[in-house]
Amino acid sequence: MRVLSHHIAIRIIENEHDRLSAVIQGMQHFVRAINKGKKAPDPKVFRAMLVYISEYPQKVHHPKEDQYLFARLRQRTNRINQTLEELESQHKQGESQLCALELALTQYELEGAAAFQSFFDMVETHAKFHSDHMGLEEDVVLPAAIKFLTQDDWAVINAQFAANADPLAGSGYKESLDKLFALIVNIAPAPIGRGPAT
Ligand SMILES: [Fe+2]
Ligand SMILES: [Fe+2]
Repeated sequence: MRVLSHHIAIRIIENEHDRLSAVIQGMQHFVRAINKGKKAPDPKVFRAMLVYISEYPQKVHHPKEDQYLFARLRQRTNRINQTLEELESQHKQGESQLCALELALTQYELEGAAAFQSFFDMVETHAKFHSDHMGLEEDVVLPAAIKFLTQDDWAVINAQFAANADPLAGSGYKESLDKLFALIVNIAPAPIGRGPAT
């Protein structure tokens, strides 16, 4: 559920969720194509997706949620503490899940069909994990933020999230991630990306 808000941080969070969803759908498309016996996309596409998630959602998006959005919310209300704890715990699981996915991909490349089912199941589980996580943030955390945060809180949070989105603010880091996302979109097959359908 999307909230209506003029705060740039909320628009950026929703936009970053859309990008993460697109990448995860690309991962699902990858394993579902193999499962249906279609030509498998190049594994480098899947690895580019893992790198994107590791470099942006994991290193930038989640930490900013923890440090600014969640931290300020805890100062203003205790009504959603349990949800915040759950989300913070999920943020911490992200890196190990990415390692497990890369291992499962490598095993599939080495062993072929024998290792496919566990790789497939892991991708589907990972997709649900992210979808539930972002849904909880959009359905519970963002509405609570609009309700409880002060103008001063928003000034800090908006500035922090806007810094993510400003390519001139960094040292080319954001630009290189945008290029990586564009690469994923260009090589991932339709309907997720703009590459040839498989
Ligand atoms: Fe999150
Ligand atoms: Fe998020």
